[in-house]
Order: sequence, then structure tokens, then C-alpha cells
Amino acid sequence: MDIYQFAIRPFLFNFLKADPESLHSLTIKSFNWLSQPNNQSASWAKSRLENSLCLHDRRLEQNLFDSTFPNPLGLSAGFDKDGIAAGIWSSLGFGFAELGTVTFHAQPGNPRPRLFRLPQDKAALNRMGFNNCGAEALAARLLQLQRTNPPSVPIGINLGKSKITPLQEAAIDYLNSFRLLKNLGDYFVVNVSSPNTPGLRQLQDAKMLSSILDALLQENNARKPIFVKIAPDLEWEAILDIISLAKTYQLAGIIATNTTIRRDGLKTLMISQTGNSPQDEAGGISGAPVRERSTEIIRYIWQQTKGEIPIIGVGGIFTSDDAWEKITAGASLIQVYTGWIYEGPMMVRRILQGLLTKLEQRGFKSISEAIGVGSGE
Ligand SMILES: Cc1cc2nc3c(=O)[nH]c(=O)nc-3n(C[C@H](O)[C@H](O)[C@H](O)COP(=O)(O)O)c2cc1C
Repeated sequence: MDIYQFAIRPFLFNFLKADPESLHSLTIKSFNWLSQPNNQSASWAKSRLENSLCLHDRRLEQNLFDSTFPNPLGLSAGFDKDGIAAGIWSSLGFGFAELGTVTFHAQPGNPRPRLFRLPQDKAALNRMGFNNCGAEALAARLLQLQRTNPPSVPIGINLGKSKITPLQEAAIDYLNSFRLLKNLGDYFVVNVSSPNTPGLRQLQDAKMLSSILDALLQENNARKPIFVKIAPDLEWEAILDIISLAKTYQLAGIIATNTTIRRDGLKTLMISQTGNSPQDEAGGISGAPVRERSTEIIRYIWQQTKGEIPIIGVGGIFTSDDAWEKITAGASLIQVYTGWIYEGPMMVRRILQGLLTKLEQRGFKSISEAIGVGSGE
């Protein structure tokens, strides 16, 4: 147990009973301060963080989609929607970071409270609803960053549909965001799997998704890698449809998975902020409850494609065992969100250290040798 788990988390979560969203905003603001290139105190603090949180080892490095990923563990979408801390994620040990979800139109998201902790389940429930400053604002911020202090790890940009745009016009909405951002990210994600924008998940339907991909591919003259992020609640048949689209459109890969709308098996009876049961609160569940299903989907995609379609695995990763399970099921890269909230900033280094130990135990020379070895194929 480290200082975060032993003292800081209990202080914030139990003693202060800090509202998760306010805590999140404060964290992002602090990271933004840390990323200022010309502030001496910030630079000093940043280098101290790097010393204690980063782990560099060539065995964890991979060259994928024209980018070098120094390690396979990234920050998942939703944490830094507006790229406010885009320059800091490598200093916290991450091998890449996915910004967004960003929408073409700036939007406030759902009314608060909209983010809840379910501590007994090591989970979170959110219905943020893509609160973000819009694609134009993100583009301006990333352009400035590129000029002053370019991120040293690959940056993904996750695109969603604006709430005011009707589903039938989704393709143009994604396209408008992509046009503004296409030169500013190392990869792009079509997010059609958030449960918190009405109707969005219907865009996982092959016909609807095709129209979005058609639009993006026409605009994609720089051939940026494009992923689709899917929900853990899809049936196998729908996943097969997505695999087939991924092949047709030569997508860079699939991100599995987003949060779940399922509520079964939860131990948390009451959410402290509302007094309601998680069964009665709308939103998506993340963290430990999605772990197994997300790994199952990764394994399925790997088996169906014989490993030909790269997978970014996300959902319920807390430990190096969880990370290893996803990689050996077929994920080339992995991401975390909820686990990082519970385990704290030392988690990244702990996981990477654990992965190196596993490589040594199995006689693998690099992380790429481990991908899919436990897929059953
Ligand atoms: C508060 C919160 C906000 C999120 N927002 C987004 C989002 O904007 N776009 C997205 O694709 N996924 C979003 N996610 C889903 C995560 O990126 C991830 O797919 C999911 O939480 C499973 O990973 P985890 O168990 O490590 O959290 C969000 C998750 C949380 C907890």
C-alpha cells in the first residue's frame, strides 16, 4: 500500500467526502499548472514526479500505427476531455493518452451530480454526457501545445456526436470535428458507445457506422489511424459486424470497451451523494465490474480476426495481473481510468513493473511477444 492508498484516498473520499467531479476538476487544474514550460516551480515538481512515477524500459516499447508507444499503458478517454493537461501525461508514466470525448459543438453535459463512486465495487457510475468545450477549443489548445511543448507520447483524440445534432446527421458532426483536429492527434477514435448521449449507441449499427467512417475516410488524406470504441453490452453478432467494418474500412483497430449499462452483481446498495441505489441512477458503470466482459470481448475479437486487428483494451484494470490478462487476451495497448482513481498515481509504475516481471518469468523479450498468447487460438 502506498501513501495515496493509505492516507490521501481515505482523506479525500471518506473524511472530506470530496465530490468526485470537483476533485477531478482540481486534479486537472493542478496538472495544467504542472505542464507550464516556463514556470520554474512547475518544472521542478514535474521532474520530481517523473523520477518517482515513470518507468522506462525498451522491452515495453512498441511501434504501432506510425507512432512509438514507450509503454502499453495509456490514459483512457474522459479524464482529459478538453486536453487541459495534454502535456503532462507522459510525466505521470503513461505511454499514451486519449483526449476527449470532444464534440463539434461545445456543450455543458448533463446536470450535476453526474459522477459517483461505488467504493464497495471498486467502480464509478457516470452520466457526464460529453461535457466539453468543443473541437475548435481543443484544436486551439493542441496547436499551442505543439508550438511550445509537444507531448512526448502519442496523443489520441476521441470524437463524439454533439447532443444537438440529430442521429441522421451524425456523420457530418464527426466529420466537422475531425476536420479541425486531424493534424493534431496521433490517432482518432469514433466513440459510438457512450451510454450518456441519447441514441449514440445506435451508431454502432453497421449502416450508421459506415456513414460516419465513409465521411472520415474521405477527409483522412494524412491516413491517420482511426479506431472505433465499442460498448461492453454489444451482442456477439454486433461485434462481428464491427469487425467486418473494421476490415472493410481498414481501421487501425477497435477499442474495447466503454462503460456498461448493466447493473447486475453490484454490492453498493446506496450512492452516498443521492441516497439512491445504483440501480436507480442512469449512467455507465466503469471499473472492476466491467473487467471480465471487456477482456472477454478482447479475446473474442482476437480469435475472430486471428490477431489481425489491433485492439486497445480498457475496462477494470487495477493491477499488473489485470493488465497482463488483457494483453494476453489480445490487446496491443491498454488504458485505465477508474483504476487510476482508486489506486492512485503510483499505479502506472506498479503495473509496468509487474508486466516486466511477467515477461521475464515467461522468457519473453518484449511486450509484443505477449499479445494474444492467452487468447486460446
Ligand atoms: C467519469 C468518466 C467519464 C468518461 N468519459 C468518457 C468519454 O468521454 N469518452 C469515452 O470514450 N469514454 C469515457 N469513459 C469511459 C472510459 O474511457 C473507459 O472506457 C471505461 O471507464 C472503462 O475503463 P475503466 O474501468 O478503466 O474506467 C469515461 C469513464 C468515466 C469513469
